[in-house]
Amino acid sequence: MDFSQLLSLVALALVASQVAEAAPPPKVTCADGNVTANAVCCQLFSAVAILQENLFDGAQCGEEAHSALRLSFHDAIGFSIHGMQGLSGGGADGSILVFNATELKFHANIGIDDITSEQFPVFQTTNLSAGDFVHLAAAVGTANCPGAPQLDFFFGRAPPVAPAPDLTVPEPTDSVDAIIERFADAGFSVDEIVALLSSHTVAAADEIDTTIPGTPFDTTPFTFDTQFFVETLLKGSLFPGNGSQAGEVLSPIHGEMRLQSDFELSRDPRTACLWQAMINDQTRMQTQFKAAMHKLELLGQPDTLVDCSDVIPVPAPFKGQAVFPATFSRRDIQQACLLEPFPTLQTLPGPETSVPPVPGS
Ligand code: HEM
Repeated sequence: MDFSQLLSLVALALVASQVAEAAPPPKVTCADGNVTANAVCCQLFSAVAILQENLFDGAQCGEEAHSALRLSFHDAIGFSIHGMQGLSGGGADGSILVFNATELKFHANIGIDDITSEQFPVFQTTNLSAGDFVHLAAAVGTANCPGAPQLDFFFGRAPPVAPAPDLTVPEPTDSVDAIIERFADAGFSVDEIVALLSSHTVAAADEIDTTIPGTPFDTTPFTFDTQFFVETLLKGSLFPGNGSQAGEVLSPIHGEMRLQSDFELSRDPRTACLWQAMINDQTRMQTQFKAAMHKLELLGQPDTLVDCSDVIPVPAPFKGQAVFPATFSRRDIQQACLLEPFPTLQTLPGPETSVPPVPGS
């Protein structure tokens, strides 16, 4: 073999090894016929079915799916990269479900008791740890919302050992400085805060104003679209009045609620440009939300958890466009990002928009 033949052989071997590395990991067929990348994930398919049937009304993006996503945040954010000041617990460990007698007394967890009391009996029918249950429920519930990304799910959390400490969950009355500081203490950047707040596109409030339960944060609370980022930027009052409560800012859309924190974050120079960039960029919102949620579900967890993301259902796509609600247009936008032009959007036809409450709240 001459030198050039030898070189060709080496090149061929290199290509072959790269192809082998690029090949998808081998799949396992579970006893029930489901297919996954890792045999330990097989036991999760029955838990997913239980969740869809007994918690999410047969795979709906309703109140329970919304609340399951909120619960995963309130559980995981009880964490600090600087340590827990001598306290154990914290992070994405399900402590909010098991130590609910303690954590539900925290002011920021107002209204969380509804979903913990719904989840607890379902949790008991699975063999999962509380942390695995809470974060699996969030990923499955979110998958029921058209337009959502297929969230990751990592499996194998130990049972929680203690409640998370108080004052780790941000409140809508907190200043932007305080919110950024709290998220930074848990390891999140300013961009990741905006990405995580995409969750408020499938959200409603029961407790901010108890006289109007189920008031949604955008006109499409059952779709994981970018409408929330448009509607928070419509001109509105910063100061409570006309019946609005602490933490609430009036929305110009009838039936819609706007959190004071979302209002301020949408207009703060540190967050305004990503906020605006999310509008009508479904792929960007999905990608950044998925990445930040991945980080959230692993807070305080060892790197031995197993990637079981392929047990999460694939969400239906959102094929529409972001719009101005009927009667609104570019002139109603309070643009806070001065670096980029505001995206061009169509106005929905029809009379003034009014959004109904989310049922079941
Ligand atoms: C600055 C940070 C945040 C603040 C101040 C905040 C505050 C709130 C408040 C006050 C509510 C309404 C509660 C009620 O009255 O019933 C709410 C709902 C919700 N939040 Fe957040 N939130 C924040 C971040 C997040 C994050 C990071 C997630 C998830 C990743 C999340 C997911 C949700 C969801 C899905 C709902 C709707 C729950 C339902 O409709 O039942 N929030 N949030």
